[in-house]
Amino acid sequence: MNGTSPLRLGVNIDHVATIRNARGGDHPQPVRAATMAAEAGADGITAHLREDRRHIRDDDLLELMKTLSIPLNLEMAATDEMLDIALRHKPHAACIVPEKREERTTEGGLDAAGQHNRLKDFVGQLRDANIRVSLFIEPDPRQIEAAIHLGAPVVEFHTGHYAHASGAEREKELRRISDAAALAAKNGIEPHAGHGLTFDNVIPIAAIPQLVELNIGHFLIGEAIFGGLTGSIQQMRALMNEAR
Ligand code: PXP
Repeated sequence: MNGTSPLRLGVNIDHVATIRNARGGDHPQPVRAATMAAEAGADGITAHLREDRRHIRDDDLLELMKTLSIPLNLEMAATDEMLDIALRHKPHAACIVPEKREERTTEGGLDAAGQHNRLKDFVGQLRDANIRVSLFIEPDPRQIEAAIHLGAPVVEFHTGHYAHASGAEREKELRRISDAAALAAKNGIEPHAGHGLTFDNVIPIAAIPQLVELNIGHFLIGEAIFGGLTGSIQQMRALMNEAR
């Protein structure tokens, strides 16, 4: 540790539900994975309730809210249906993500700048309910500017481009994320990051001193097949600590 503040790990459990849903039964249960993740050192649980309910479902959200002893970060699209659900369940945090039916995962950041007027009231209603609002955006100064105007206390930077790039392109993307984290922090916004992070690429991201939280899902759940969920979370935690 070099004296930078500790970095929180949010474990995304969506893909436990993906495996369960493949057979239509109730095994494996996302809530059981969430409880194990908390015991293994996760600081929070993230779950994305998609419009098509392809992984997490409404009953999972209910179970998570009843059971969890650590904060729940609900990822959701900016729709009336999701706003209603968030206001009813009141998770600790709500991360607003763009959502397209045809995409396999959240492929890009939210256009907070382009959708400013529509999002203003949305963010305001969540904030009024004491839900910590986060906007999942590209590491782009225009989007940070929009987050400031929208009054979002948190932004999460999409690390997907970084994760999929290599060589000079990856370095460039890393600088973009690092500059964006510094700009957000300077403006009083708490910067988080996530998407596509693995044991092999997490350290340079975790070393960005302003970042407060990383949200990681697909890799941790996949890796759990080989080393168990506890093992995969503990190893990620150790790499994040090594970076600080
Ligand atoms: N953060 C956000 C906002 C996401 O939408 C996702 C994917 O659902 C993640 C983090 C986690 O990404 P991954 O599953 O690639 O680790």
